[in-house]
Amino acid sequence: MSSLLYVNGGAPLNGEITVRGAKNFVSKAMVAAILGDEPSVLRNVPQIRDVAVVTGLLELHGVHVQAEPEAGILRLDPVNVESAHVADIDAHAGSSRIPILFCGPLLHRLGEAFIPDLGGCRIGDRPINFHLDILRRFGAVVEKREQGIALYAPNGLRGTKIALPYPSVGATEQLLLTAVRAEGLTELKGAAVEPEILDLIAVLQKMGALISVDTDRTIRIEGVSRLSGYQHTALSDRIEAASWASAALATHGDVYVRGATQPEMTTFLNTYRKVGGAFEVDDDGIRFYHPGGDLRAIVLETDVHPGFMTDWQQPLVVALTQAKGLSIVHETVYENRFEFTEALVGMGATIQVYRECLGGAPCRFGQRNFVHSAVISGATPLSAAEIEVPDLRGGFSHLIAALAAKGTSTVHGIELIDRGYERFTDKLTALGAEFSRG
Ligand code: EPU
Repeated sequence: MSSLLYVNGGAPLNGEITVRGAKNFVSKAMVAAILGDEPSVLRNVPQIRDVAVVTGLLELHGVHVQAEPEAGILRLDPVNVESAHVADIDAHAGSSRIPILFCGPLLHRLGEAFIPDLGGCRIGDRPINFHLDILRRFGAVVEKREQGIALYAPNGLRGTKIALPYPSVGATEQLLLTAVRAEGLTELKGAAVEPEILDLIAVLQKMGALISVDTDRTIRIEGVSRLSGYQHTALSDRIEAASWASAALATHGDVYVRGATQPEMTTFLNTYRKVGGAFEVDDDGIRFYHPGGDLRAIVLETDVHPGFMTDWQQPLVVALTQAKGLSIVHETVYENRFEFTEALVGMGATIQVYRECLGGAPCRFGQRNFVHSAVISGATPLSAAEIEVPDLRGGFSHLIAALAAKGTSTVHGIELIDRGYERFTDKLTALGAEFSRG
């Protein structure tokens, strides 16, 4: 696909699209298959680049992957897992952060693992200290090398007690993927409990793991010596669903998102309603629409689940440029997730960003020089512009802005959006958007 899109905006998005499995679950479930001693089957898998990257990484490690992309089915056979060559891993990992999650499963299967320097969206420092601490606590030896990190567990891995300083999604997944086959008991305090993590726990339970989740963010795991394969249908992508919902609002549109599910989106839906967006839930999806009248400004703080997801923030901010009054958004998950607003300002939005914790309780980024609050003054018409996609969610937000803006915008670097939005140009066509490829 060309990396350039000319978007002729200013018209509402109307129609129906389908979202499939969650990017931030599917990649982890694929990694979990390594832990089994027989094949696994994953369903509802979207055709996104992150799935292709993890497929490549699994194949490098000897996992046989058979895909039926249209049907959304992956068969993962881990029987012949082996070490991969460093240069190959590096070449395949690309912009993904998933390689870090291979560590626990590979240490169990092979006694060693290697991960290259990690990519991922540039929305903050995104360190891996929690991950490495966890692996060390299980008894892994961690050696930093020029090209990445080598890990060894010559004597196997043993259960441990850990408290996370922040409920990190990736670190919680790291712990789960490592503890299920470690010897003895593991206890994690301060765990993340995102729906994608609970679905990963469901997968691991199907494989034979013993995992309990308490109400106080404590997860307890009793290690087992062998795990089987699994058959599982991935939960729906609530970030993609919310992105299209925000696009419907910003363009005065009406979009039925087939596959969107309410329980994982209740916090988003409350906010959507407060802003003045309307929605109707049925058994197959959710209709999101602009019911007419003015949109309302809100005060919003991102947080870990069950709070308002950080990944919902960027698309919704575009809709907030069309709300009447002053909206305040406090980003508490990533220290640097407002850079994308610069392009919106270039398109006519009035957005000011601040180092202070605005509109909510002080967070860990306060007094630390991180620009992590934004004030959006609306409603302001948006005008077409030339835009460079900065990261996955910021890029989709720019696309929404281009769709809402009158005139023809030029959007560069759209291949970044393919990482997490399945066939998004086909979906734009289905919603009546006017665009052409450069
Ligand atoms: N953190 C550390 N040390 C660590 C790990 C995390 O300080 O070792 C910090 C991060 O810097 C960040 C916070 O903890 O400030 C939360 O990061 P978390 O570990 O929860 O994020 P992640 O696992 O790297 C996943 C998703 C992100 C999503 C976050 C939060 C995947 C592949 N990525 O990232 O998704 O924003 O959880 O829900 O699952 C996206 O889809 O566009 C995306 C960025």
